[in-house]
Amino acid sequence: MANVTIIGAQWGDEGKGKVVDWLASRADIVVRFQGGHNAGHTLVVGNQTYKLSLLPSGLVRGKLGIIGNGVVIDPIALLAEIDRVAAQGLAVTPETLRIADNAPLILPVHAAIDSARENARGDRRIGTTGRGIGPAYEDKVARRAIRVCDLAEPQTLDWRLDEFLLHHNTLLRGLGAPTFDKTALRMLLLDLAPKLLPFAEPVWERLANARRAGARILFEGAQAVMLDVDHGTYPYVTSSNTVAGQVAAGAGIGPNAVGRVLGIAKAYCTRVGAGPFPTELHDETGRTLGERGREFGTVTGRPRRCGWFDAALVRQAVKVGGIEGLALTKLDVLDGVANLKIGVGYDIDGSTYRHLPPGTEMQANARPIYETIEGWAGSTRGARSYAELPAQAIKYIRRIEELVECPVTLLSTSPERDDTILMQDPFAD
Ligand code: GDP
Ligand code: IMO
Ligand code: MG
Repeated sequence: MANVTIIGAQWGDEGKGKVVDWLASRADIVVRFQGGHNAGHTLVVGNQTYKLSLLPSGLVRGKLGIIGNGVVIDPIALLAEIDRVAAQGLAVTPETLRIADNAPLILPVHAAIDSARENARGDRRIGTTGRGIGPAYEDKVARRAIRVCDLAEPQTLDWRLDEFLLHHNTLLRGLGAPTFDKTALRMLLLDLAPKLLPFAEPVWERLANARRAGARILFEGAQAVMLDVDHGTYPYVTSSNTVAGQVAAGAGIGPNAVGRVLGIAKAYCTRVGAGPFPTELHDETGRTLGERGREFGTVTGRPRRCGWFDAALVRQAVKVGGIEGLALTKLDVLDGVANLKIGVGYDIDGSTYRHLPPGTEMQANARPIYETIEGWAGSTRGARSYAELPAQAIKYIRRIEELVECPVTLLSTSPERDDTILMQDPFAD
């Protein structure tokens, strides 16, 4: 039975949550495998809007949600999110949500370091979500993270906290920020333990059993390939691998379980935070896309920077991300725009490139090479079949397919769950 992996193909906020929610009707389990509560996924179901950060989007469909070991879990944020969706009538219990017992935790110290570092960067700040994601991943690699399972061992917590605070308080002092007290942190963790531990288990074993039983698993990526710590616009990236290759390590499953990889891309392009964005628009068209697309961050509320579809960038994401089919979202936002531009490559200091080279200065100097394509007068908003699309909109999609060297297999035409056109079922064998 085929599994499906969903990843972002631009700089995030492509509509992964909507697509995961829609595809979850065909899945048995939805698994997050990287990132943390820096993600913000908006799902519109009838008159309810769910804003999820850490919870797998499949929970809204009543599917089992799993948070894998590759995710950094802020227990306070997780419990708050569970309360928030409960107020909307969605009960999340240890029967519907399982979290990896070996996942690292995000603690208040991490957010403090994140902000102190951003302040110290001044003009060169990354524009992080301030949620401690980077510092928490650093701790995991440095072998000083406190993990979910440590909550069950007060003695382990004791010496782990000594090592943890020796490092962080030294750093915080250097940055001129307040330090943390061990007793208070220990009490906080012991208070969180009975609330979090009922959700914890070796999720790798559940996934192995589910696979053996023929269950369909949907792996839900957060962020996007251009924010990947290896393949993105470094250093303006997040601190995890966001490519499909991360599924195996981040869920505790073999690489052959990844299944079909669906990349999500907007029909234009946006970015939150700092960093290069060659096709960014600073004019009226950019503002129009922002207003019509309601381009405000789900997590931070920050306005998203808007620009034309960058086919060179998405082509690169297709290759390094392992994307086999593209879901194109927000086509409706382009309705009525007379002339559309598509970035096909870059001019960097007089040389032509078909991809974005990794050098920071080169990326900052990349000027897009455009191809212009006529827009469409009709509406695509709410279309649920290809036949409803204006001929010129189909031409735009076809051109994107050629340029990114990947078929468009799904289209989204509004925030609503069912305003979706499926050309090829990724779960089909
Ligand atoms: P994610 O982070 O990739 O899950 O994306 P977000 O949820 O952060 O941002 C995508 C935004 O676009 C959300 O507000 C969605 O409700 C909305 N959205 C998704 N698909 C469409 C679409 O096809 N058309 C329009 N107009 N909005 C969409
Ligand atoms: P979803 O899953 C868009 C961006 C931040 C910042 C950079 C690093 O909703 O697509 P971090 O807090 O991760 O250290 O910030 O990454 N960023 C996102 N941008 N969508 C996201 O998630 C993002 N998660 C992080 O704005 O530029
Ligand atoms: Mg988002």
